[in-house]
Amino acid sequence: MRDGQPHAIYLKDYQAPDYLIEHTTLDVDLGEDETRVRASIRFNANPEGKGKRELTLDGGKDLDTRSIAIDGRKLSHNEYKIEGETLTLFEVPEQFVLETEVLIKPQDNMALSGLYKSGDMFCTQCEAEGFRHITWYLDRPDVLSEFETTITADKSAYPVLLSNGNAVAREDLGDRHRVTWHDPFLKPAYLYALVAGDLEHIEDHFVTMSGRRVTLQIFTEAHNIDKVDFAMESLKTSMRWDEEVYGREYDLDIFMIVAVDSFNMGAMENKGLNIFNTSCVLAHPETTTDAAFQRVESVVAHEYFHNWSGNRVTCRDWFQLSLKEGFTVLRDQQFSCDQWSPSVCRIEQVQMLRSAQFPEDAGPMAHPIRPPSFIEINNFYTATVYEKGAEVVGMLATLLGPDAFRRGTDLYFDRHDGQAVTTEDFVQAMIDASGADLDQFQTWYHQAGTPEIEAKGHYDAVAKTYTLTLRQATPPTPGQSEKKPLHMPITLGLVGECGSDLVFDIEGCSAREIKGPDGYSRVLELRESEQVFVLTGVTSKPIPSVARHFSAPVKWIIDYSLEDLAFLSRHDSDGFNRWEAGQRLAIHLIDALERGNDGVSCDEASAMFLSVMTHHLKEALNVADSDVDGAGLAYNLSLPGLAFLGELRAEINVDSLVKARNAVKRMVADRCFDELSAVLEAALSDDSFAMTAEAVGRRALVNVCLDYLLASQRDEAVAIAERVYRGADNMTLWAGALRAVVGSELPSAPAARAWMLEDFYARGQKDALVMDLWFSIQAASGREGAVERVKALMAHPDYTLKNPNRMRSVIGAFAGQNVSGFHESTGAGYSLLADTIIELDRFNPQMAARMLGPLTRWRKYGAARGGLMKAALEKIQAQAERSPDVFEVVGKSLSDA
Ligand code: BES
Ligand code: ZN
Repeated sequence: MRDGQPHAIYLKDYQAPDYLIEHTTLDVDLGEDETRVRASIRFNANPEGKGKRELTLDGGKDLDTRSIAIDGRKLSHNEYKIEGETLTLFEVPEQFVLETEVLIKPQDNMALSGLYKSGDMFCTQCEAEGFRHITWYLDRPDVLSEFETTITADKSAYPVLLSNGNAVAREDLGDRHRVTWHDPFLKPAYLYALVAGDLEHIEDHFVTMSGRRVTLQIFTEAHNIDKVDFAMESLKTSMRWDEEVYGREYDLDIFMIVAVDSFNMGAMENKGLNIFNTSCVLAHPETTTDAAFQRVESVVAHEYFHNWSGNRVTCRDWFQLSLKEGFTVLRDQQFSCDQWSPSVCRIEQVQMLRSAQFPEDAGPMAHPIRPPSFIEINNFYTATVYEKGAEVVGMLATLLGPDAFRRGTDLYFDRHDGQAVTTEDFVQAMIDASGADLDQFQTWYHQAGTPEIEAKGHYDAVAKTYTLTLRQATPPTPGQSEKKPLHMPITLGLVGECGSDLVFDIEGCSAREIKGPDGYSRVLELRESEQVFVLTGVTSKPIPSVARHFSAPVKWIIDYSLEDLAFLSRHDSDGFNRWEAGQRLAIHLIDALERGNDGVSCDEASAMFLSVMTHHLKEALNVADSDVDGAGLAYNLSLPGLAFLGELRAEINVDSLVKARNAVKRMVADRCFDELSAVLEAALSDDSFAMTAEAVGRRALVNVCLDYLLASQRDEAVAIAERVYRGADNMTLWAGALRAVVGSELPSAPAARAWMLEDFYARGQKDALVMDLWFSIQAASGREGAVERVKALMAHPDYTLKNPNRMRSVIGAFAGQNVSGFHESTGAGYSLLADTIIELDRFNPQMAARMLGPLTRWRKYGAARGGLMKAALEKIQAQAERSPDVFEVVGKSLSDA
């Protein structure tokens, strides 16, 4: 162990800081061997603190402290203590200025937290606790300060010097130069940023709703400057959207984005100076898939939206992380739904929730969206805090309706501007603005686990009533065995016999109506463990369409017949539930095949599923018509993923599950080969690349069809993929064709694979993100021999563990997406992952802990595989040098709690 036994910290132990910081001046002298950081920090005793006159600051072992002075007087050794990662000043006045000087080595910082080098440039990542690796500080989000930074560096190597706020002074020093930045907005240290490099930029501007002109700049290294126009458009769209939908205006005169190659996360919302992983900002048709384009748009929006939800109103402590992340994810999701097809957007959000968050909530790391304790905060940037957090705020929006929800967010921003607050403050603003009773709703913030709801319906043709009984229960999670019933919105529609929605009333309660051009739903409020809703005025026997738009993050148990599902998949007015019905049918079929003991039900389910597929394929033939939602149809044609299918099982038998899913895929491919080819031809267009919903939809259809065709038993499919690849002018189709061929067992696939991989690799040599894709497509392929293939990829000269994107493209794709390869029965996949994590943990603990995810669910994989997975975890745990990050995740995974 590096630091003895790491210990947990608890939300219940929160204490206000004894000191606040009024002003912070940093003088950063960047050098190739070392960087000198002089800090001058004006402290004031906090009236809300306990009045202690001893002050402990956060730092790191990487700070080489050269001097410490208070109010201009240098401290002697008996006036302070540096111990581990803290500096304690024994006696300080009520108000004072602390001056420190430290030396740090950004070029040796491989953890990518604090100040580090990404290639030739200097950059920072301070969330959550990175600032302490730059200088001694009160590195906590409830300490907000004004910042002024002077950066000095070599002029030719680092012509661009950036920090938060406005540039207020520049000085030429011959070979070196100096720029001073001032940020007038108070902020916690986690929002601090500094960048120095040889960068180019594009510039644009935005006029805010009150008429202020804001300069917008995006910086990259020269070779990427042709790939940032899309991000600039996304930024302007986001700025306008936040004004129109949330009434939020940007506050500084300048907004900058910098793209960096080496970045642990996707992007960071530093005040006025967002720093982005290149993967989340660069976009060009020849290097970027449609999904990645859309990711750029949503990440740009997300980080921009943080300017209000996170920066102007920030978190009191890191337990409140979902306050800014859950809410901001909801905001970026709403934004994306406004740019593209709302139901397709929702499908993607729910897929993410089901494949990442549901498993987390059912595993050893399960935690509420506001965790009660943690060892390492970096382990809590999770699907639960983010995606479930977004669902929880989304439920508030659904319960209150758009107008009351907007009054609530207005009140929240208004009341807490400039403050560091809690999730209770957020909900209180919602209560105060709407008058709604949300006491029970608060349970979502401190109860972990995914609720399961059983729905049973009964139609009374005489009384014209439909009685819907809902029963909810949440399974126990580690440390939380008793669960309370939750308050949630259930958006319900009734689909009549002719396929259109029925209008109805509800006995004894007022449920908000949602009326669309051809849809009618009402928002039921579920609060009890068991609750009966009597719907009246139901003129014919309905099929219920439950939880439209996925109105709550729960698992549903509904006893639909195959006919009901087939009907809903064709007729439901809610696009999300049309998809959902088809997924249920597919799940039914895959389950039946996996059980394999019931030929009749397999035949029935196959026939029903094929009829639905054929129906969607027919519709997809008209993809050239602009009113056909190609992306929606592509999802309707896709099978549920293995992660979600596994999640539905108490125990996962990898072999039989993969076999059953593959069998369904092959069945569709063989039985619908001609229809699939026809749709593919109809969707291929001669138009040059466009990033429009129609064009994205067509490309999605081409790729779904290719995926099926290459899983068929007809070798001619390979030639189709080769033709698509050769004729394409964009990365979506190149990657789609390559992926299909790389996964194919057809006789001519190897030859096609060889030339395509070579061609793709050549493209990758000009663009690191394309090279990442070249690695990940191969690492994710479930074909026989995956472990050996992945080992070969890791020995490739272009591979490195030091760059998170490259590491993820191999290790992440293998352990996260390649179910059959990773779970290869000898356990070779587990060993490979364990050994890689051990190596990674030596220099980048945050990434190492993140890569553990796939191993943590070992209990679900039966005795043989589960035992091997557990052994891999134990090997990691036995390492002397493991980080607190890895310690926490492995410890929780192995514990019996
Ligand atoms: N604040 C985070 C970035 C972050 C995460 C910093 C973890 C430090 C530790 C940022 O706003 C964020 O959430 N980024 C996401 C992408 C976003 C679109 C959900 C990310 O980086 O994955
Ligand atoms: Zn965020």
